[in-house]
Amino acid sequence: KRRIAVMTSGGDAPGMNGAVRAVVRMSIAQGCEAYAVYEGYEGLVQGGDMIREMKWDDVRGFLSRGGTVIGTARCMSFKERWGRLKAAKNMVIKGIDALIVCGGDGSLTGADLFRAEWPGLVDELVEKKELTAEQVEPFKHLNIVGMVGSIDNDMAMTDATIGCYSSLDRICESVDWIDATAESHQRAFVVEVMGRHCGWLALMAGISCGADFVIIPENPPSGNWEEEMCKVIKKVRVLTLLMTPQANTLKHRGLGKRKTVVIVAEGAIDTNLKKIPCTVIKDLLTNKLHLDTRITTLGHTQRGGSPCAYDRMLSTLQGAEAVKAVLEATPSTPSPVISIVENKIVREPLLEAVKQTQEVAKAIEAKDFARAMSLRNAEFTE
Ligand code: F6P
Repeated sequence: KRRIAVMTSGGDAPGMNGAVRAVVRMSIAQGCEAYAVYEGYEGLVQGGDMIREMKWDDVRGFLSRGGTVIGTARCMSFKERWGRLKAAKNMVIKGIDALIVCGGDGSLTGADLFRAEWPGLVDELVEKKELTAEQVEPFKHLNIVGMVGSIDNDMAMTDATIGCYSSLDRICESVDWIDATAESHQRAFVVEVMGRHCGWLALMAGISCGADFVIIPENPPSGNWEEEMCKVIKKVRVLTLLMTPQANTLKHRGLGKRKTVVIVAEGAIDTNLKKIPCTVIKDLLTNKLHLDTRITTLGHTQRGGSPCAYDRMLSTLQGAEAVKAVLEATPSTPSPVISIVENKIVREPLLEAVKQTQEVAKAIEAKDFARAMSLRNAEFTE
């Protein structure tokens, strides 16, 4: 029976468990044996009990669980050739020649490199007499299939990454909670959201929560943006000047809005690529508009917790497609990444997707922000 392994790597994302469940069950349904690699690449390098067979029942209840049950880790040894050599040996010993990885672009690039090196690695294992020629004979090629698990939605060639909509839901819920207290005290909140160098979460949260201002790395605020921001806020806000000696006497009613929310992506930068910390926004709101301002960093609450319906559906459909991709792969097929494009589950060339993702970072570095914005997926730019 063909043996297919599944692994989660990089930062956890809601829906990763759904992906593992789908791979395990689809593999079994297709007459294969399913294996889970625990703790990401670390488990592949360590081998033994870290690579375990998974039966149908072993993934029961996975669909609604947050994080990744099989674990993930940052692994330095897999970045070294000796680590990958050990990983190859462990896979051959377990009789596995197909690996489905759910992770971010770094994890998927690592997997493709492993595939490219694979024939050399198994030859070396035979030369070093760690494995026999007979043992490696059925394992001349490695199949790699990627699925993008990340809350950041920062991967090119897919409309959504597994986890991004759960995270967005969590942010919306949190901002709703913040709204209640903000309105009560007529306060302003600067809310920092995750996303690494990607502004998708911040921008979508801004739209979903009706924030007053949003700052994202791909389109840094320029010109006299500080004035602009204050103007936009002042237009709608009740300003009771709570922080001045004239409190409650001077009143600007605006359009009657009692709270202000500015969403700042954690990767927010100015046009000189200098980080814009939340404190800068807080100081502006305090000093120019006299708003009683607080900063809330949502942090890892955005990453944990159970996946939303969309992520359960996405991870399940993609996991099933990943197994199909393994079974249809030939030694010359480029490694695919399973994507969703215009609501269809599709296979895209993994390396091309990674390359296009890196183009955004390059555009930002070159201060070509128009290009950075246009390179992000359609949902983002429209
Ligand atoms: O990539 C997911 C993410 O949550 C980013 O949004 C964030 O920048 C990063 O991971 C935080 O990573 P960690 O706290 O795991 O080092």
